[in-house]
Amino acid sequence: MSYQTIMFLMLVIFGSLCATAFSTCSNPTVTPSRITWALDYTGLLYSGYFCVTVQANDLTWSFEDSSVANIAVFTFPSGLGTNPCQPSTPVPGYNATCQYNTAGIPAGILGCYTTTFSVGNKLTSSFNQSTLKLAHGVSSCFAQNISLQACSSPTPNTVLVNPSSGVYHTQANFQCSHGSTLFNMDGTTGNTATKCLAT
Ligand SMILES: *[C@@H]1O[C@H](CO)[C@@H](O)[C@H](O)[C@H]1NC(C)=O
Ligand SMILES: *[C@@H]1O[C@H](CO)[C@@H](O)[C@H](O)[C@H]1NC(C)=O
Ligand SMILES: *[C@@H]1O[C@H](CO)[C@@H](O)[C@H](O)[C@H]1NC(C)=O
Repeated sequence: MSYQTIMFLMLVIFGSLCATAFSTCSNPTVTPSRITWALDYTGLLYSGYFCVTVQANDLTWSFEDSSVANIAVFTFPSGLGTNPCQPSTPVPGYNATCQYNTAGIPAGILGCYTTTFSVGNKLTSSFNQSTLKLAHGVSSCFAQNISLQACSSPTPNTVLVNPSSGVYHTQANFQCSHGSTLFNMDGTTGNTATKCLAT
């Protein structure tokens, strides 16, 4: 093994040791890791988890368009001595949640945040290259440029419909042809067939 390979392996091992420690604001666990979303998507975008060792603080999600103008901002104010996830002002068409947990966490940690950001408004092409940011007090925890792509198929695709009875307008199994997979709009997949009303 070359010196560079050994150095690289040591970095990888050290990096994974650090990652198994705990998530901090500067190193949050964010799911999913994707940056590309389907055009017209609505639903959960990102869920973040991180722990703080020193002090609870305001938690802020900011969704900015490509000209850095705010689209939606949620601030969960920190209430000293109480739950630091005080309710934020609602923003129509968007949703953010915040939970703060002090039970069952590693020693030396004050508490851990679980927080989500969702869109109720469709992500139309005007949201392409918008940026979602998460901050704890003045610390930036996460920033992601969002790329939007229209859904397409590399091959002509047919949805095969197998009605359980021969009757028009009954519930049926449907699945994609060409060995393609049915994905949910959030990119997850499970069953490759589902039921819908055959019309
Ligand atoms: C935001 O999402 C949470 C969790 O899914 C839900 O309980 C709440 O009703 C939503 N709020 C709005 C304003 O949609
Ligand atoms: C988002 O894109 C802008 C413009 O290309 C770039 O300056 C910025 O660094 C990007 N931010 C992230 C978090 O990738
Ligand atoms: C979003 O921006 C990327 C990069 O500029 C581009 O390739 C893509 O086609 C755009 N998507 C939409 C839906 O306009």
